[in-house]
Amino acid sequence: MAKSYDIIKHTYDAVVVGAGGAGLRATLGLAQRGLKTACITKVFPTRSHTVAAQGGISAALGNMGDDDWRWHMYDTVKGSDWLGDQDAIEYMCREAIPSVIELEHYGVPFSRMPDGKIYQRPFGGMTTHFGEGVAQRTCAAADQTGHAILHTLYQQSLKHSAEFFIEYIALDLIMEDGECKGVLAWRLEDGTLHLFRAHATLLATGGYGRCYFSCTSAHTCTGDGNAMVLRAGLPLQDMEFVQFHPTGIYGAGCLITEGVRGEGGYLTNSEGERFMERYAPHAKDLASRDVVSRAITMEIRAGRGVGPGKDQAYLHMEHLPAEVIHERLPGISELAKIFAGVDVTKEPLPILPTVHYNMGGIPTNYKAEVVTLRDGNPETVVPGLMACGEAACVSVHGANRLGSNSLLDLVVFGRAAAIRCAELIKPRQSHKPLVKDACDEALARFDRLRNANGSHNTADVRLAMQKTMQNHASVFRTGEVLKEGVEQLDGVIGQFADVRVSDRSLVWNTDLVETIELQNLLSQAKVTISSALNREESRGGHAREDFPARDDEHWLKHTLVWLDHDNQLTIDYRPVHLHTLTDEVQTIAPKPRVY
Ligand code: FUM
Repeated sequence: MAKSYDIIKHTYDAVVVGAGGAGLRATLGLAQRGLKTACITKVFPTRSHTVAAQGGISAALGNMGDDDWRWHMYDTVKGSDWLGDQDAIEYMCREAIPSVIELEHYGVPFSRMPDGKIYQRPFGGMTTHFGEGVAQRTCAAADQTGHAILHTLYQQSLKHSAEFFIEYIALDLIMEDGECKGVLAWRLEDGTLHLFRAHATLLATGGYGRCYFSCTSAHTCTGDGNAMVLRAGLPLQDMEFVQFHPTGIYGAGCLITEGVRGEGGYLTNSEGERFMERYAPHAKDLASRDVVSRAITMEIRAGRGVGPGKDQAYLHMEHLPAEVIHERLPGISELAKIFAGVDVTKEPLPILPTVHYNMGGIPTNYKAEVVTLRDGNPETVVPGLMACGEAACVSVHGANRLGSNSLLDLVVFGRAAAIRCAELIKPRQSHKPLVKDACDEALARFDRLRNANGSHNTADVRLAMQKTMQNHASVFRTGEVLKEGVEQLDGVIGQFADVRVSDRSLVWNTDLVETIELQNLLSQAKVTISSALNREESRGGHAREDFPARDDEHWLKHTLVWLDHDNQLTIDYRPVHLHTLTDEVQTIAPKPRVY
């Protein structure tokens, strides 16, 4: 098989897969440290999905009032519904401050206060004094913060001579004796195949929102790294935890930033009631996303939805001063006009909770090293393999992520990955030769898909998967509905076994790209819905109506899930790190969440 494709070989100290915020921050850090670094990406770097991040990046800078990274840590642990690893959360919240200041120095055009300091807005679940007050902690570049960060990191990476391989599709990890040796990729422009050898392969491939019918994610968000990890025989972690953002534009699903509510926007039902006051008397519209998404869903179920089908809620900002909308929310005003035909200065915007983020992903420690459960040790490091950003499950978000902790996660752990690589790798260290058949399995899979000649087309199978996930693994779940979903999804996976790719070429074959992405999505859909069926409690973004309580006695643990080549699952667990990293803070003991 390997003989039928010529492979172009490259050797690097480190290869980063993905050029979103995490990938670029890692790439920059590696290049700054003198490591020969390649970044391979399926889209042009500044088109990566981070570009769509709106509201901001959290850091306890204290520019707008008192703040402390310990309060940030408390909020993040509580927001995670105690499933987050507290050592990693401590690291993230502490490192937030230097990481954001670094971004400022790299040139990110943050919005400013009159005194020149970075502007910070309130965001859901972000408090001061351990839950007492409202924190203004989210550093913003208007409502286009991801765009600002992504462009800056790309420019800085180029300045430090990182090498980019753009429009390359990563196909599979090259593993030998449990160690990652690099990655095989397909170049769209000329159809060539490339083997990137590296001492560290960093997966920064983002989330897999496109498993669902309605999501805020770009079409490229197909979790390619997660799927490669499953194919390499390694587990994914906490895949049952899928975040619904409360305010996707009804119908289109585009994100309308939580920053709207941070600037004073609010939600109403068909009776004109500000219903969040009932569900979260303290935090109201700025309760965490799982709470707000459930509240909207319950209002709709109770017949108090708005719109012709009574299946939406209203987001109001028409009462906000025009200059606030103009200066701080220009992007969403445009999105509302284009996708809903709504002038937000005059009328409310119809919204609906929409899939936004995957808390689960590739298990890592706080140094971004991939870990697995081996011989009873749940902290076993997989040599040569790292992950950061939404692809990773560090786990700093546990069962539910707080808004603006994602851009932070990308930057802090992209940076941490580079720091760790510099400790482990000497620049230009030599590579041992690979075994002869190292790429055969990956090539065989690629070749099978390229020549697939079945009776189902990719778009139909994808739609069936997306509808199944949307209907069976949604904001609220029950065992019965999930089980039905698992069975339905197995049927869809069966259809994929009989898929047809019409274009056999190797140059810019988008039919094949979409089929590869669909295979990636299907494996993640399978482990997501199965892990959701397995977890018999409600926690964070996972709300089981048949198990409505959080059950710390049985379920204060991370799910690990493996998927073999025959689509068979294995589930096991890792303990949650309830310990902190240093003695500067104490463990935050689990307690009931009060909103
Ligand atoms: O609402 C938002 O601006 C999204 C931010 C986030 O997901 O962190």
